[in-house]
Amino acid sequence: MMPNLRVLKLKVVFLLLLTGSCLTGADVQADLTSWLAPIVWEGTFDPKLIDSIYKQQNITVATTVFALGKYTVFLQDFLESAEQNFFVGFRVHYYVFSDHPEQVPDVKLGGERKLTVMTVNSSSRWQEMSLGRMKRLEMLIESGLVNDADYLFSLDVDTKFYGRWGAETLGDLIGVIHAWYYNSPCVLFPYERRPESQAFIPYSEGDYYYGGAVLGGSVKCVYQLAKTCREQLDIDAAKSIEAAWQEESHLNKYFLYNKPSKLLSPEYSWDDQKMKPQEIKIIRFSQVLKNYAEVRPNI
Ligand SMILES: *[C@@H]1O[C@H](CO)[C@@H](O)[C@H](O)[C@H]1NC(C)=O
Ligand SMILES: *[C@@H]1O[C@H](CO)[C@@H](O)[C@H](O)[C@H]1NC(C)=O
Repeated sequence: MMPNLRVLKLKVVFLLLLTGSCLTGADVQADLTSWLAPIVWEGTFDPKLIDSIYKQQNITVATTVFALGKYTVFLQDFLESAEQNFFVGFRVHYYVFSDHPEQVPDVKLGGERKLTVMTVNSSSRWQEMSLGRMKRLEMLIESGLVNDADYLFSLDVDTKFYGRWGAETLGDLIGVIHAWYYNSPCVLFPYERRPESQAFIPYSEGDYYYGGAVLGGSVKCVYQLAKTCREQLDIDAAKSIEAAWQEESHLNKYFLYNKPSKLLSPEYSWDDQKMKPQEIKIIRFSQVLKNYAEVRPNI
């Protein structure tokens, strides 16, 4: 008799869950990973102290956002809320990538903060907009434009800051735990599961499911990340394979083998669609509600 594949698959998943061959989310609010990287939660740091340490180092934080197509509508709220919450008092340089530079709003920036608009070509598919991001990040760093920066973040634009985001988030390589999966067992993570893709992660592996909305670190480490992910994306593209969650899938693969030196808790990448459970003390940054039909050229 032919085994029922579906049942077999479920059994395998269940077995993996029992044997705990990948992190099973036993303590969803741990403040250290198994490789001893801090996980930044409210209450694990002293905001004034940590800011003052990095202030003495006179750092510059470069931040890229990609506002292609109709996504420029999100820029105003993103920038205004960033000015209220994001590295307040630090030197911040925003790089806004847009195919509609004339639609980039004129937001009043604090002292020592500046914004550069990077004009890019239009794309007709949102998947391509997402796929091109690693390449643009890689090219931006190669151009030498961010040479004056010590740290670089790449953030989604369809977002808003609701709370403080400061020097506690700095480190060599920074990933954020995805709001929808911080308390899921790792066999349920939406990693790319087809071995044909470079983003493939087998069911027996995985630490966390990282969100694609936030990545960061030193300019050097972000360059390695962007370059590697872009190369993997190119290999997939040549084989006409698109990973389940495009760039985010490749980011997860990268972080599996190049462990982040610091993780941001889902406080740093929430989703307005998701109710705040009791254990989450503060939401600092969150994806805003959007009407996909209005902002994406194709669904
Ligand atoms: C801080 O860095 C900025 C930009 O890199 C530089 O212009 C400035 O002179 C520095 N200030 C100090 C006190 O080192
Ligand atoms: C943008 O599009 C133009 C015309 O299609 C092309 O010549 C140019 O190389 C493109 N630029 C980039 C950066 O892709």
